[in-house]
This record gives sequence, structure tokens and C-alpha cells, in this order.
Amino acid sequence: MRVGIMTSGGDCPGLNAVIRAAVLNGIKSHDQEYVGFHDGWRGLLEDDSIELERHLVRGISKQGGTILGTSRVNAFDHPDGGVDGVRRALERAGCEALVAIGGEGTLAGATRLADAGLPIVGVPKTIDNDLGVTDYTFGFDTAVQIGTEAIDRLRTTGESHHRCMVAEVMGRHAGWIALHAGMAGGAHAILIPEQRVSTEQVAEWVREAFDRGRAPLVVVAEGFVAEGEDNAHTPLGLGRDGRPRLGGIAERLAPVIEELTGIETRATTLGHIQRGGTPTAFDRVLATRFGMGAADMVAEGDWGRMVSLRGTDIVRVPLAEAISSLKTVPQERYDQAAILFG
Ligand code: F6P
Repeated sequence: MRVGIMTSGGDCPGLNAVIRAAVLNGIKSHDQEYVGFHDGWRGLLEDDSIELERHLVRGISKQGGTILGTSRVNAFDHPDGGVDGVRRALERAGCEALVAIGGEGTLAGATRLADAGLPIVGVPKTIDNDLGVTDYTFGFDTAVQIGTEAIDRLRTTGESHHRCMVAEVMGRHAGWIALHAGMAGGAHAILIPEQRVSTEQVAEWVREAFDRGRAPLVVVAEGFVAEGEDNAHTPLGLGRDGRPRLGGIAERLAPVIEELTGIETRATTLGHIQRGGTPTAFDRVLATRFGMGAADMVAEGDWGRMVSLRGTDIVRVPLAEAISSLKTVPQERYDQAAILFG
């Protein structure tokens, strides 16, 4: 069977491990052959693809990014897209199945296509770890590791100068990266999209830590909205996909903290550094298991579903379920972390 595979949406460490595992398991266990579409739906709809022979996926698990490229092109907004467009594109490429690796947006498109009868299976990905039906997505562990290392570094320079340091990490709707990196790095305050906190409260935590002789460290997720504000800070306007571009809340918060506490404060935004480079071993293993699972689903014709992690098991769930719920940080997890703030 000839199978198409693509990576779509924001990139994520571990995408190449999924591609490699699907291709190798497909060849070795199921007599499948793979064609990779460049830049997600764009490559599929514009006939831009590459034959994924075995040697092309050799050794790529440790490589960041995606060898196929990615884009935020939506299957339904493209002039040649929609159900008929995707069906025609798959036929043109000689594919009897499609493995769609992506986040919320990609999986929403895949769900509509699968509902219309197209042979599609999904692989969830997002560094934000906010997809409801999988315990973890690959890329998250890498992002947390990078965030933690950055916090450790910010602490030593902060301590030398007796400054407050504010570290901004990704997390559009959910604060998992901030929560985990902040806990790992012993942050004095963690600010996430799920929790409204006043700047006065943040200043109080900072002052408490400073008064004990510490260099206060604040971790803030890009989607955090302070009490009294209406929306997340989006000074950068809209992205090509029409979503607000987040980033910059640390720069906005630092002078406020400095003013309220009198403590010199500096801001650092990690941005896309969290999405680049080598995936951790955990992410490589998870991504490999997801890729192998996807090839198995294709072999069984188990369309309209995606691989997911439940505990330590790889299971299959309907694509529709994946997009129906956002996995946010529960109140009790935040309350537990907050005991150690200040
Ligand atoms: O959705 C994942 C994510 O990493 C968000 O945390 C972030 O807001 C967004 O992607 C940024 O994406 P880009 O700048 O690549 O459009």
C-alpha cells in the first residue's frame, strides 16, 4: 500500500522520529511505501512531494524540525482544498492513505476529511501539551528541558546582580511548559493562561524571595493575562494563519515588577528556541511509538482515529475527541505549585 505522510502546523522536536518510525515499520511489517508531502496540506494539494525511501529516514530521530517542512496552510482554505480537493490530490499521488501529523488545527481538518470518508489517521503534536486525549505529546519534554536550562542560567546571573529575572516560555492556552519548567527550576512565581493573578501579587512573591536574599525568578507563559487585563499580550499582530502572535509579556511585566518592588528586573523571552534542536530521549521514544502505531493503524484501515498516550500505553482515539477538549492545567496542580511561590 502507498501511504502519504505530512507534518503540519508549528514544528516540534520529535517530528522526524515519527516519520522514520512510520516509514520503517510500514516497510518492515506491512509492505507499505511512503510518500512525504512538503509543508503539510500545501504539498499534498500542490503536488509537491518526495518518495520516502528507507535511506532518507536513516538516523533522523535525533534531528529537530521536520525533513518534510511544515506550514499552517489549512486544507479547507486552500483554493484546491476541501474534501474533493484532498481526495483528488491523494489519487494523483497514488496514495491509499494519509498520515497527518499535527496539532489542533491539523487534526480538526483531518477529522472533517475522515468524516467525509477519506482514509486518514492522525498523530498528535504540540509542544504546549494541551491536547485533551493524550497524556503527553512529544516535543513537550524537550521544551520543558530547554526552559529549565534557561531558568538555571538566568538564576546565576540574577543572583550575581541581585536582580529579579522574568523568563517567558511558550503556552498559548495552557501553561504546562511554564508549570513544569518553573517547578523544575524552583521559580518564585509561575504565571499561566489558566490563572488570573494581579501584578501586586506577583510583586509580593518577588519581594518575599528578595528579602530572603534570593534573586527572584518569575516564569510566565506567553498566554498569561494579568488580573484587570482583557486579553493576552499580542504586540506583534496576527500571524499568517490569522491567529494573534503571542510573545512579549515578560518585557511588559518586568518594568511593572521593578516599579512595584524597586528591585531591578530583567526579561528574557525564550520563543522558538523551545521548539528547535534535538529532541530529548523521552520525546524520541514517544514519537517513535506514535509513528509505529500510525503505520499499524493504516495497515488495519483504522481511519478517523489517532494514536495517543494513556499512562504508558499507546492507544487509539477518535480524531473528533482529540479536538473537542483542551487539556489545561488543573486548579489543584497550580495550587500545589503556588505553595512554593515567594
Ligand atoms: O502552538 C504551539 C506554539 O508553540 C504556541 O505556544 C505558540 O504561540 C505558537 O506555537 C507560535 O507559533 P509560530 O510563531 O510558529 O506561528
